[in-house]
Amino acid sequence: MKQFINQMEEEMAAAFEKAGYDPSLGKVTVSNRPDLCEYQCNGAMAAAKKYHKAPFVIANDVAAALQGSRVFGEVTVVNPGFINLKADADFLRDYLVEMSADEHLSVEQSKEPETIIIDYGGANVAKPLHVGHLRSAVIGESIKRILRSQGHHVIGDVHLGDWGLQMGLIITELKKRSPELVYFDPDYQGEYPKEAPFTISELEEIYPCASGRSKQDPAYKEEAMQATYELQNGNRGYYALWEHILAVSVADLRKNYGNLNVEFDLWKKESDAQPYIPDMVEYLKNNGYAHTDQGALVVDVKEENDTKEIPPCMILKSDGSSLYNTTDLATLVMRRELYDPDEVIYVVDKRQELYFTQVFRCARKTKIVRDDTKLKFLGFGTMNGKDGKPFKTREGGVMRLEHLIADIGEEMYCKITENHETDPEEAKQTARLVALSALKYGDLSNQASKDYIFDVEKFTSFEGNTGPYILYTIVRIKSILAKYREQTEENSEIEEKIGLFRTDSEKDLQLLLARYGSSIEGAAAELAPHKICAYIYELANAFNHFYHETKILAEPDPVRKAELIALIDLTREVLERSIDLLGFSAPERM
Ligand code: ARG
Repeated sequence: MKQFINQMEEEMAAAFEKAGYDPSLGKVTVSNRPDLCEYQCNGAMAAAKKYHKAPFVIANDVAAALQGSRVFGEVTVVNPGFINLKADADFLRDYLVEMSADEHLSVEQSKEPETIIIDYGGANVAKPLHVGHLRSAVIGESIKRILRSQGHHVIGDVHLGDWGLQMGLIITELKKRSPELVYFDPDYQGEYPKEAPFTISELEEIYPCASGRSKQDPAYKEEAMQATYELQNGNRGYYALWEHILAVSVADLRKNYGNLNVEFDLWKKESDAQPYIPDMVEYLKNNGYAHTDQGALVVDVKEENDTKEIPPCMILKSDGSSLYNTTDLATLVMRRELYDPDEVIYVVDKRQELYFTQVFRCARKTKIVRDDTKLKFLGFGTMNGKDGKPFKTREGGVMRLEHLIADIGEEMYCKITENHETDPEEAKQTARLVALSALKYGDLSNQASKDYIFDVEKFTSFEGNTGPYILYTIVRIKSILAKYREQTEENSEIEEKIGLFRTDSEKDLQLLLARYGSSIEGAAAELAPHKICAYIYELANAFNHFYHETKILAEPDPVRKAELIALIDLTREVLERSIDLLGFSAPERM
């Protein structure tokens, strides 16, 4: 379906042409003076240069050509040549009626859908999920849903870190604690036990302990590095242990991501790319892309116009072992072979930006990716506490994600049960949904690349620019709709059509609803969920303003009443689809 603003632009372009000017000058934008008009066109200013005429004259020519327009209800020319616009009421109403009937609710579907892989989540096996991983999961999930809503084939891949030193550390620590385990017997030939020799809570205690020790004790670290090397080079017992670590850890990660409403299509890991490394290294060598530098195999990636130094991309260390780089490049080889993506988007901490610049340049230069494959780095900032430092627990430790979610859930539960009596089970469910909205909206409403302050009190408030406020608005609409259905038992389906606006607040609400499609498209083009947040906050405010000024259920004229009901039902639909794109949903009551 063609966007509201694009239809306006077409009308404007036709008017420019009719008046004898270049139609491409007829750009229409949302007004930055909403007190004067709803939309505006500044094309006469640009036309003035081109045609050596006063902009005011040109604007008047265009306005004359717009006489009787079905799109614009009011066209006003103001000095020095701005064209101020108001939408025609029928055009607006017709657009909303068409939008309500459209299965995509006016979001245009891509004519050439792309295969897009989103690399997000990125948790490390055997390390508890902490708030640092929250952003990648929350932002990536939203980007995935937004691109999917445009009809693209989007594949979400968690790309777990499972191949690095953390594995060697855990194995080393386990060996110290239980040297008798069969995994450490070099002569053992039989099958290894099916049951892991540790639980997830033990595993989570082992890793920080081992990591702490390795920092104190160089010999311990040396051992861990050796264990990592052996794991990667065919030590059977270590490999069997690694499989246990993976299974226990992934089960826990699935639960945690599930609680966050984050779903991955692929649960691939760094280790899945390992089989692609040997051929890739051969290829890089044989084609002269890689050369040896102080024993290491590297690919130069600096470019002429670089203003800062971009170091070479290291493919193999001098001891022949592979690195984070190697895995990411081999993962691109694997992805091309298995999915042939048109685009790969990495949602990773922005501190890894330089690293990804190297990887992307290397992949392009060496033609590991197709020439037309887009590689994008969506770097996010740090989540800080109120003190402006990286978010910690009250005791100063690293906050575990599940504790954070539980804390917010409890706070929400108290708020919900404090006001009215509710069934405890339902209250718990509701608290979960509202808590998730607080957490996700609190994150997504900020531009991803910026650091932000995680302020639980602010995020959980039912007022202001928060997730709970948006849910509250949706629930308010749902309750009006439910009452309306009760009043009109015989036709319980709401199928009446939106009417012409009669008040300013109704018009404002209608105009905002008409902007839904272009808001989503803008968010998709810029990979910017915060644009959806800004849009729904404005929409929720417009709805609440309208609601306070308008009798809906008490409206005596049944036709008008049905029209109002259709309008708020569309508002609900737009809000619900929007929050689904952000990755959360609304309860029936709260
Ligand atoms: N596991 C990594 C980390 O915790 C993030 C992975 C990001 N994705 C990638 N393809 N490198 O830093």
